[in-house]
Amino acid sequence: MHGMSPVRVALIGTGGIAGAHLDAYSRVKEAEVVAVCDIVPEKAEAAAKRWNVPKWFTDYRKVLQLPEVEAVDICTPHAVHAPIALAALKAGKHVLVEKPMTSNLKDAVKLVKAAKESGKVLFCGIKSRWAPSTQQVKKFIESGALGEIYFAEIVATRRRGIPGWGSTFIRKETAGGGVVLDLGVYLVDTILYLLGFPKPLTCSAIVGGFIGNQPEAVVHGGWWWNPDEFEVDDFGAAFLRFENGTAAVIKVCWAAHIDSLGTSFLLGTKGGLKLTNPPEWFFDHAGYMAQTKLPQAGDSDGFVREVQFFVDAIRNGTPPPVLPEEALTVQAVLDAIYRSANLKREVQVTIPKF
Ligand SMILES: NC(=O)c1ccc[n+]([C@@H]2O[C@H](COP(=O)([O-])OP(=O)(O)OC[C@H]3O[C@@H](n4cnc5c(N)ncnc54)[C@H](O)[C@@H]3O)[C@@H](O)[C@H]2O)c1
Repeated sequence: MHGMSPVRVALIGTGGIAGAHLDAYSRVKEAEVVAVCDIVPEKAEAAAKRWNVPKWFTDYRKVLQLPEVEAVDICTPHAVHAPIALAALKAGKHVLVEKPMTSNLKDAVKLVKAAKESGKVLFCGIKSRWAPSTQQVKKFIESGALGEIYFAEIVATRRRGIPGWGSTFIRKETAGGGVVLDLGVYLVDTILYLLGFPKPLTCSAIVGGFIGNQPEAVVHGGWWWNPDEFEVDDFGAAFLRFENGTAAVIKVCWAAHIDSLGTSFLLGTKGGLKLTNPPEWFFDHAGYMAQTKLPQAGDSDGFVREVQFFVDAIRNGTPPPVLPEEALTVQAVLDAIYRSANLKREVQVTIPKF
């Protein structure tokens, strides 16, 4: 990479999370943001000013016409990822897209196909993948300490954390779905990764918006949102079966009348692990039941690393930590969760092949 010019990036969607991305670019010398874009002109202009970006736009199609732009970073709402990513790949740009890759499986397939055809990088920034805590557990599993993992549970609880800013997370048109997409994507990716991406077979799930449309649920100490605009899910629970015989439970909520949906854990033939930080390992030793805490995983700047992965993939061909096919499998599981909930029965998880 020595001596190469920085990767010239355009960032699209200068809302809540864009600042963390722009800050990360300012710290990675191999990348340079040359344009920002938002449909709200004031937002695009403010981001350009704050981060010293030379050009700002309100129409992403204009950005894609700029010859100097090699890559785009898409920070728009979930349902607005796919059209921009697809157009960008077709325009020959590399794509970093915020999680979830798309708001539905059909769009995910289009994106992965377009990336294959264009030969450009498609990297979905599912940050939990390279979090030190995930990497620590992955290494521990690989040490063999747990034996064969036959069951796992993974949860994320917010007692009252419905994202209300700009409403883009709670309106169907912009979000595509609610907490199952927003936080479920982290859980599905983490559990698939920790289990070594076994082939998912079936899924049985319930999903719903049980709290989000109740005005009285906007309470002190919780996040603010407008219940009148709430059109998506705030709870999901799923049971997944894999081809290798393993099963996993996924539970996630933005709001619930409980302090916790439980603890995430892995059960193996030789040991079990609670996915707390630090993780707690349960095993038998010298005729006794033993347990011990692993060291606490450190911190790392997830966004700086994300930008660095993106740059390395573009300049050096290093595969990004989340491969397009993996993001597609995650999307197939999310799709099965919604399908099962809608049909009120178990469904097959279909992973499109092409
Ligand atoms: N990695 C993380 O930790 C993390 C945290 C929060 C959000 N996110 C993800 O980042 C994405 C954005 O979330 P956010 O909180 O910034 O949302 P947001 O609603 O605050 O910002 C989205 C921005 O996109 C703009 N936009 C919408 N349509 C557009 C279009 N066609 N062209 C250009 N701009 C457009 C909106 O005007 C808005 O400013 C989501 O995918 C979300 O899941 C990731």
